Amino acid sequence: MVFTDIIEKKKNGLKLNQEELNFFIDGYVKGIIPDYQVSALLMAIVLKGMDEEETVALTSAMIDSGPRMDLSGIKGFKVDKHSTGGVGDDTTLLVAPLVAACGCKVAKMSGRGLGFTGGTLDKLESIPGFNVFFDNETFIKNVSKVGLSIIGQTQDLVPADKKLYALRDVTGTVQSLPLIASSIMSKKIAMGTDAVVLDVKTGNGALLPALKDSIKLADIMVRIGNAKGLKTAAVVTDMNQPLGNCIGNALSVEEAIHVLKDNIECDIKTVSLTLASKMLILGGICESDSEAMMMLEEKIASGQALVKLAQMIKNQGGDPNVVDDTSILPHAKEQISVCADSSGYVSEIITHEVGSAASLLGAGRMTKEDVIDPAVGIVIKKRLGDYVKKGEELAIFHVNDKKNFEEAVARFKKAYTISKVQPDELPLIYTVIEE
Ligand code: URA
Repeated sequence: MVFTDIIEKKKNGLKLNQEELNFFIDGYVKGIIPDYQVSALLMAIVLKGMDEEETVALTSAMIDSGPRMDLSGIKGFKVDKHSTGGVGDDTTLLVAPLVAACGCKVAKMSGRGLGFTGGTLDKLESIPGFNVFFDNETFIKNVSKVGLSIIGQTQDLVPADKKLYALRDVTGTVQSLPLIASSIMSKKIAMGTDAVVLDVKTGNGALLPALKDSIKLADIMVRIGNAKGLKTAAVVTDMNQPLGNCIGNALSVEEAIHVLKDNIECDIKTVSLTLASKMLILGGICESDSEAMMMLEEKIASGQALVKLAQMIKNQGGDPNVVDDTSILPHAKEQISVCADSSGYVSEIITHEVGSAASLLGAGRMTKEDVIDPAVGIVIKKRLGDYVKKGEELAIFHVNDKKNFEEAVARFKKAYTISKVQPDELPLIYTVIEE
């Protein structure tokens, strides 16, 4: 087989078969096919797309690029959760302890934030002592012991995705439905859990902003998962404004603890409980959403979910007292109000720009090599539909280093549209896709 023929075929909009996709993935992982040729194929895939059969075939080839995790040592139903990425998304910090408190085993590998999106690993690492790197044996032991563990992705889990994602990131080929679906589902299937619930974001802070694309992505991922023996459901959720009010790492941890501890009714709780209820249903713990919601509410009210979170933190080397005393978390030197320049309703928030503003303060990375500051970030004071008076606080910036402060403020203010007309309320949950 000749790789240029494969590039030509896709360039002409033709369908690639399993053999060709295996040749591509195998050759790339082994270093036989160079980055420049793979870049050409990736761009052809972005422009010409792939049908479902091809996407499944690409996912299979990627899964086979490395060994699968063997979680058979963990007794009970093993469940995972994945978000396609957003701004202010702390749901894993709620969902994982909640579902573990209900009796499922949560075995999760998470990623770091890049660009405007946040990452669970960075958030957890803001807890003093918290370790996200364990060998497989210890990970399995940890899940068995306390019912949940969240660690960084191991080097050998889907090596094809590691190489491809790094290349996509620098070649303008991230935003492609078949590439996103195969990237996410190859890792979820190779992870070896019994089920996964996907949180597919939609809106101006999502990877694929258009609702119809988000639904298509959710739909194909659910079909790939179920076809490969991984029970999969997806919830399409809103990302037309940050989820919750805190963007940053320690700030997100503090917010998640606050929601669990004080049982705050808010968007993060609604999305988290929706995802968690689907996990409990896939796990056979509950039969209906209403039963699952009742159980989850009880785990919050009784404090059992918070206890699970503390157990996980302790088990992974962190200070579990953080759930009672969030002053243990790093805090920024300065808190600076950012105020509205005019009066009116917040009618639009360009969410990815808000995420970028937080990254400029040091809460996220512009490149993979950047070092983040766990203490800094943004606490939002006005959300879509809120009325704001000129000079009133839109947000509080938590700042350590003023280097990019002015640029961050400018970006943040530009992200907010304030107008005379109150916008229609957007749904938080658009749809749920189950088999
Ligand atoms: N997250 C992934 O893991 N892969 C993608 O392609 C996009 C988001």
